[in-house]
Formats: sequence, C-alpha cells, structure tokens
Amino acid sequence: MAADGTPLLELEGISKRFGPVQALDRVDFAVSAGEVVGLVGDNGAGKSTLVKAIAGINPPDDGAVRFEGREVRISRPQDATELGIATVYQDLALCDNLDVVSNLFLGREQVSAGPGQVSRQLDEVKMEHETADLLSNLAVTIPSLRSEVGTLSGGQRQQVAVARSLLGDPKVVMLDEPTAALGVPQTKQVLELIRRLRERNLGVVVISHNLADVFAIADRVFVLRLGRAAGEFRAEEATEEQVVAAITGVGDGRDKGERAGEEERA
Ligand SMILES: Nc1ncnc2c1ncn2[C@@H]1O[C@H](COP(=O)(O)OP(=O)(O)O)[C@@H](O)[C@H]1O
Ligand SMILES: [Mg+2]
Repeated sequence: MAADGTPLLELEGISKRFGPVQALDRVDFAVSAGEVVGLVGDNGAGKSTLVKAIAGINPPDDGAVRFEGREVRISRPQDATELGIATVYQDLALCDNLDVVSNLFLGREQVSAGPGQVSRQLDEVKMEHETADLLSNLAVTIPSLRSEVGTLSGGQRQQVAVARSLLGDPKVVMLDEPTAALGVPQTKQVLELIRRLRERNLGVVVISHNLADVFAIADRVFVLRLGRAAGEFRAEEATEEQVVAAITGVGDGRDKGERAGEEERA
C-alpha cells in the first residue's frame, strides 16, 4: 500500500458480459504494493475474465479502474503494459525451440549499432547478461541460459515466464494458475518466486485452484462466484473451510443458473 493507503490498482463496479453470460457483475477489487492477493473461485466464476479486463484483453463493459489513485482506461494490452501491469497466462506462451535468453527478450530484442555497420545486430551479449542478472536476482536457477525452453521442467518454464513478465519493470504482476501443472518441489519454487515479487514491492494477483498454495503465499484471498465478489479474507485469519464456503456459495441461496443476468430477467 502507498504511504497514504491508496492501493496500487483499484477496480470499482467492473462488469463484463459475454452474450447471455454475465461473467463479471459489479466487482470491486484492489491490490496494493507489496501485497499478494489470491483470486479464487469455481470454474467459470470469472477469474480469468477479471485478469483479462485488467490486462486490456477484454475491456470491461462498465466500471472504473484507478492506478496509483488516478482514474485510467485500459482498453488494450498496451495500455496495461504502459501502466506497469504484467500478466503471466496459463499457457505461458513460451517458444519451446528457443533458448531462455531468446524467450525472455522475444519481441523486445536489444540491438546495438556497431561502428560502421549498416544493419543493426542483436546485442546477444547484453541480453545474456541481463538474463543472468534477472534470474539470479530472483534466485532462479536454470542449468544453462542457452538451453531450449522445451527441455526445461514445468517449474523452470513457469519461472522463465515470470522473469519475462518483469522485464518491463512492472508494478503489478498477475499470474493465472502458475502452479497448475507442477509437482510438489516445482510448486515450492514458484511460490518462492512469488514471495520474491512481493519482496520487490510488486502488487501480485495469483489465480489458483489450490487453496493450500493460496494460503501459503497470499496476504488476502478474494473469492469470485458466478461473476460476483463472494468474499474477501485476510489469509492469516481465515480457514480453508470459510473460503470453500464462499467459493461454493453454501448458504447464500444462489446456485448455477442463478447468475446475475438470469436473476434480473426473472
Ligand atoms: N471470450 C468469451 N466468450 C464467451 N464467454 C466467455 C468468454 N470468456 C469467458 N466466458 C464465460 O465467462 C464466464 C467466466 O469465465 P472465466 O473468467 O474464464 O472463469 P474462470 O477463469 O473463473 O474459470 C464463463 O461462463 C465463461 O464461459
Ligand atoms: Mg480461468
């Protein structure tokens, strides 16, 4: 949180409809610097839609977004990037046949004009140094930066994708299911990496199905259910049972088919 208590990123009344589906219904959401927010909810609850709204991929139909207290409009991915919001998607979008350095700098290759050279050449040495610096700062160990990414483990690939998201020096990083396909030791590595993002004072939003992982890293847990905010907990004060109850909506009288749109029409 900023000294005056302003969250880094604040959403108010965000709604998004896909045809008949009210994917998000007047959702308020915030993340502060140095905070990890776990974003949880059943399949179809609207988690990815919320992340994509913030990332400028699916701009919301309605609602306000403030960044560092200033009202902003995020209508395309570039807007999010320019504000300092980075996203690591579930499919990671890495190129298996390229090495770690090339994957990190994909699309933002550095070029240096050599003396007397007409064509500029990729500054491979500089990129390799920066890759090594970044990974060592994050305490990520990968046997060789020249390994093809396709040969790395799932955990290493996830770490490469997270490292890549940091290159533009973002203030907010969002991760969609970063531990989904990982075994126990790899999950531990990725959770450690997320903790280091918090240490760097980033605002971190982590979508996860795994409540154990969420409780292991999140400061706050935010629950979506059928497109609506369904509960918010301080991780240290909440139990998994309370979060599960919010996810499943036990006792709230809403069930599948009772999404906001349907209710309004009824
Ligand atoms: N591009 C889209 N077009 C149509 N419907 C979508 C689209 N994206 C998401 N939805 C719908 O919106 C709802 C929320 O989806 P999503 O945000 O992916 O949920 P979650 O990530 O929590 O599983 C679902 O009913 C889903 O089918
Ligand atoms: Mg999703």
